Amino acid sequence: MRPILANYYVTYRCNATCSFCDIWEQPSPMVDVKDVERNLRDMRELGVRVVDFTGGEPLLHTDLPEMLAIAKGHGLATSVTTNGLLYPKRAKKLAGLVDLLHFSIDSAEPEMHNASRGVDCFDKLMESIDTALSLGERPDLLFTVTNENVDQMEKIYETISFPNRLVLILNPLFEYASLGDSLSRDVMDRMDAMNRRPLTYLNPSFLDLRRKGGNDPENPVCKAVSTCIVISPFNELVLPCYHYGLEKIPIGDSLKDVWNSDRVSFHRQWEGRHDVCKGCSINCYFEPSFAVSPMSKYFWKSIPSKVGYGWTKYITQKYLDKVPREAVLPLRPEVGTNGDQSGMYELPVIQHNPISR
Ligand SMILES: C[S@@+](CC[C@H](N)C(=O)[O-])C[C@H]1O[C@@H](n2cnc3c(N)ncnc32)[C@H](O)[C@@H]1O
Ligand code: SF4
Ligand code: SF4
Repeated sequence: MRPILANYYVTYRCNATCSFCDIWEQPSPMVDVKDVERNLRDMRELGVRVVDFTGGEPLLHTDLPEMLAIAKGHGLATSVTTNGLLYPKRAKKLAGLVDLLHFSIDSAEPEMHNASRGVDCFDKLMESIDTALSLGERPDLLFTVTNENVDQMEKIYETISFPNRLVLILNPLFEYASLGDSLSRDVMDRMDAMNRRPLTYLNPSFLDLRRKGGNDPENPVCKAVSTCIVISPFNELVLPCYHYGLEKIPIGDSLKDVWNSDRVSFHRQWEGRHDVCKGCSINCYFEPSFAVSPMSKYFWKSIPSKVGYGWTKYITQKYLDKVPREAVLPLRPEVGTNGDQSGMYELPVIQHNPISR
């Protein structure tokens, strides 16, 4: 089986400290562009279609535009997810280089979002949306849904994503290394219902997998090693996945040689079969795992949402809605004479115009 996705960790460093993530706690270098150049060439030959430049915060790497340009030069589709803190500063250099640009959001309420991210970043996020739209970019809003912030789902949709004709991606929280929490049945049902609205995207199989108790090592659906190449900022191949990280193999000069080694074959045989794989539902690996499993019900259940999302990204936004425009953002109310800002953002009244996905 050929890998289809690469998760390229350009650094583990981050300018935020989210409660549900521990990547920012790790000391880390920045990837060397020369290594990236070699690895991207090999990835293409190995069959990779999409490279997700991630982290930590990928925009901390000042050579990110160069890496994206190299990836596109090899015909690879590119994806970047950012917390938005640095986007307004870096946006012009990134414009046109990211096929799937995602801005992370945890709440429509500034204080709640900032508390979740551990830093004041809501205003920068709003500025990022404005900047991106003014450059003709169409970022998706990536909302990590938890039991605590699920009430924000509608608010984000009605006040930020829908008025700006941006896709709201519903990303169910996953557990790893004693972080995160399992979502309640009610939260999952609400997510499924939300996914029927236009301009939303959720892979419903993520929730079905959770309802079934996650990955079963006796009969695994995880194909992390077969489908994903995970590279660390130290130029290592991380196996079987970033989140378990059982083994890290130095890549040296040839990703292809490492990928075709006996050691990687060993990990391929064990993917999804370790003790820690019991109950796993880490979205990053199940999206590609479902995509290559046409005999599984998860594959078929994923298709309608994926087609809808693809239509929005590759037809509507690429050809029909590509002209730079201004953002429609909730405004902060005037600060009262007593300095009271408890009302925070005023929410606009939204007309529910049907927009095709
Ligand atoms: C690891 S971050 C890297 C990119 C960037 N630092 C950011 O936050 O946008 C990628 C995405 O994963 C999400 N994420 C982090 N921990 C998660 C978890 N335990 N469950 C689900 N999503 C998570 C983040 O909210 C973010 O949208
Ligand atoms: S901004 Fe991204 S990488 Fe940084 S702590 Fe939050 S989720 Fe993790
Ligand atoms: S089941 Fe989870 S922990 Fe196990 S290899 Fe797959 S993604 Fe990693």
